[in-house]
Amino acid sequence: MTGFLGTKATFAQDVSFVGSIVVAIAMTIGAYLAVRGYYTAHRWVQTGAAAANLMLVFGVMIPSLLSVTPDENLNLPTAAFVAMPAHEVVGTVAMLFGVYVVLVGNGWLPVRWRFTNYKPFMRLAFALYLVATIVGVVVYWLIHT
Ligand code: HEM
Repeated sequence: MTGFLGTKATFAQDVSFVGSIVVAIAMTIGAYLAVRGYYTAHRWVQTGAAAANLMLVFGVMIPSLLSVTPDENLNLPTAAFVAMPAHEVVGTVAMLFGVYVVLVGNGWLPVRWRFTNYKPFMRLAFALYLVATIVGVVVYWLIHT
C-alpha cells in the first residue's frame, strides 16, 4: 500500500516516519515539563511517548527491516549503508535505555535496580531518542526519496 507523503515508502513506513517525529516532539514537550517542575505530567507524557515508540519499532520498523530483499539493497546510495546500521544501533540502545528509564520512573522495578539521580539518566535517554530519530529521518530520506 503506497504511503501518503508522495515518496517510495509504504503507508506503514510513512506512519512510522511521521509517528517518530511526533514522539520526538512529545518527548521534547515532556522534557520541558520536567524543567518547569511538572513531574506528574512529565511522567505521563514520557511514558506514552516511549510506549508509542515501542509500537512503531515492533509494529513497523522491524517488520520493514525483515522484508528487505537483497536486490533492493543494490540500488541504495552508499550513505544508506552508514545511516541504516547507525540508526539500528542507536535506535536499539535508545529504546532499551528509554524503557529502563520509564520502568524506574514509574517505580515498576525492584529498588536495587533503580537510580535516584534522575537528571543525568533522563537527559541521556532524551539525547539518545533524539539522535536515533534524526538518523532515522536521514535513513527515510536516503532510501525512500
Ligand atoms: C516515565 C517516568 C519518568 C519520571 C517519573 C520522570 C521524572 C523526572 C524528574 C523527577 C526529573 C527531575 C530531575 C531533577 O531535577 O533532578 C526529570 C527530569 C528529566 N526527565 Fe524525566 N521522568 C520520567 C521519564 C523520562 C523519559 C522517558 C525521558 C526521556 C525521553 C525523560 C527526560 C527527562 C529530562 C530530559 C529531564 C531533565 C530536565 C532538565 O534538564 O532539567 N524523563 N524527570
